[in-house]
Amino acid sequence: MTTMIDTVYNDICITTINPEIVEIRLNRPTAHNALRTDLLAEIADVLTQVAADETIRCVVITGGDKVFAAGADIKEMAALDAIGVLNDKRPQYWHCLRTFPKPLIAAVNGYALGGGCELAMHADIIIAGDSALFGQPEINLGIIPGAGGTQRLIHAVGKARAMKMVLSGEMIKAQEALDAGLVAEVTPPELTIERAHKLAQTIAKKSPLAVRLAKEAMLNAFEMSLTTGLQQERKAFALLAASDDRQEGISAFIEKRRPTFTGR
Ligand code: CAA
Repeated sequence: MTTMIDTVYNDICITTINPEIVEIRLNRPTAHNALRTDLLAEIADVLTQVAADETIRCVVITGGDKVFAAGADIKEMAALDAIGVLNDKRPQYWHCLRTFPKPLIAAVNGYALGGGCELAMHADIIIAGDSALFGQPEINLGIIPGAGGTQRLIHAVGKARAMKMVLSGEMIKAQEALDAGLVAEVTPPELTIERAHKLAQTIAKKSPLAVRLAKEAMLNAFEMSLTTGLQQERKAFALLAASDDRQEGISAFIEKRRPTFTGR
């Protein structure tokens, strides 16, 4: 498999699965993939390149067999005082994840803790191996989640479970995460990445315009009132009526053939 993004990174490995799908693998095994600032900067750099590349339709992000990511780099964090935290560049890298316009699928095996759980929650879809563990253990360090955990976990698993996890630091297993709605599917661990790639491939064959606007409209549900969200959905729906892809999708259905979407 070749790589189309030719930047060389230290903390992540990039694989072009095919021209439409890029995989980012966190690669700091000796630190359990702790998300030091440089690692987040590298993810942000890849996503910026992918966002600008029309060929790439979907990104899969994954970690190791035993650890997806063990959170922020605690040793790096220890060196930051209040001014250091205020001037921290990390929020700008998280912003890049938050505003990434293409589908992002997380394939999670093992621990997804603290910033690791928050990274997974930045993905649009999480596929988890059945040994995956999700948690926000920051409370054990005398801090709280700092990359959206207090907000996204409530949306993902509901108030009761989120409070239990954030206030006690207890982890939940993949099956509970599935039941709660944090993850979309649970697989045997050896099939997690394969399933994520397959799902990415399915999405990559859809109209990139429709996929992008559908993602945007759904994420709006967390930000907007129902009325405003419905208005935005309608506008996006109307916008798509002007696309070649809509014409192609409907013609292909009527002509009983597979559509070929061009993103126009
Ligand atoms: N930061 C820096 N280094 C870390 C790390 C982290 N988050 N997690 C693990 N490591 C390092 C350990 O220090 C250790 O390094 P050395 O070999 O040099 O001592 C190495 O990775 C292996 O770790 P363990 O020996 O602890 O491995 P284990 O298998 O016994 O335990 C674990 C695994 C349960 C994941 C455990 O490592 C752990 O609890 N890690 C910390 C999890 C955590 O508290 N995460 C929250 C961080 S704060 C945060 O994320 C804030 C935010 O919201 C952005």
